[in-house]
Amino acid sequence: MNAPDMLRGALASLAEDYPQPALAQAASSLSTAYRAQGGEAAAPGAIQSPVAAAAYALTRLPATCAALEAVLAATHLRLPDWRPTTLLDVGAGTGASVWAASAVWPSLAHATLLERDQRMIAVGQRLLAEAPTECAVAWRQVDIADSRERLASAPVDLCISSYALNELSHAARLPLVARLWEVCGGALALVAPGTPAGFAAIREARAWLIGAGAQIVAPCPHADACPMQPGDWCHFSQRLARSRLHRQLKGGDAPYEDEKYAYVVAARKPGAPIAARVIRHPVVRAGYITLDVCAPGGLARSEITRSDRADWRAARAARWGSALARLPAKTRAL
Ligand SMILES: C[S@@+](CC[C@H](N)C(=O)[O-])C[C@H]1O[C@@H](n2cnc3c(N)ncnc32)[C@H](O)[C@@H]1O
Repeated sequence: MNAPDMLRGALASLAEDYPQPALAQAASSLSTAYRAQGGEAAAPGAIQSPVAAAAYALTRLPATCAALEAVLAATHLRLPDWRPTTLLDVGAGTGASVWAASAVWPSLAHATLLERDQRMIAVGQRLLAEAPTECAVAWRQVDIADSRERLASAPVDLCISSYALNELSHAARLPLVARLWEVCGGALALVAPGTPAGFAAIREARAWLIGAGAQIVAPCPHADACPMQPGDWCHFSQRLARSRLHRQLKGGDAPYEDEKYAYVVAARKPGAPIAARVIRHPVVRAGYITLDVCAPGGLARSEITRSDRADWRAARAARWGSALARLPAKTRAL
């Protein structure tokens, strides 16, 4: 079962704690607050009540959880023998990381979640009490931008910042990445909204991590300078089903949503090599597939026809975000 599906029962029972009109009103205020920030983050102070924290969980947690699970699954593909047992999440919100990481690594045994807002912590605790995981969870109410705050007292296998970096001031971001890297014993996953600004935050962190000697395991198939051109941004998309309650709160009919995210995962050890990463939806026409990829030489376009037997099968299976084990023969630089 994937993490959003695992979450469903806990979210349904959380919703029973509040009258639905109050939840709908809080969900609408939250989405106005997000839109006012260009979809990047809720304005500071947007979560002003327990019902607002519950509305966050009900409307955003399945999507952030799905994006994070996809990021961690991409990490698992490149580090197939790695089994993290400890987790540190900064800006943990309502606990997406525990659901997502336990879905990918049931080995997870201890999680420390750092979050500033007590209302988010309370909702996160309520939800995680119903999580089908053996993982022991400790919450700390902490300002993660405060560099005097020690993030961990011993190295942690898996460190995560998911949709939180973009809520910090620009000046606070790299110092936090540096503090996270210092305590990271295995891999560090940074996730941000799939917007130009979210990508910019990730790209800057990636460059810093490479400078600090980190191995980039996802999404990039190389540790060269990021080849994305101005006006373009590297991001991915995760489709997830919307529950009836979610549709009621969001006021939409669509049975699913596509969550866009940007990310980077840095590790202490190199991952199993990949040749390229598919960076857009493949374009599929009869007998013909076009893949835009990022590869060690830079951005490239692969055009595969059914007669390219060796490449055809892989191209048919490829999705936006897939790793390719080998570069198709007919590939040209973009
Ligand atoms: C958009 S939510 C993301 C939550 C969660 N990581 C997720 O992926 O669903 C961002 C969270 O970061 C927290 N946050 C923002 N700035 C923070 C700070 N300086 N210290 C601690 N938490 C912070 C917010 O309170 C909020 O819960």
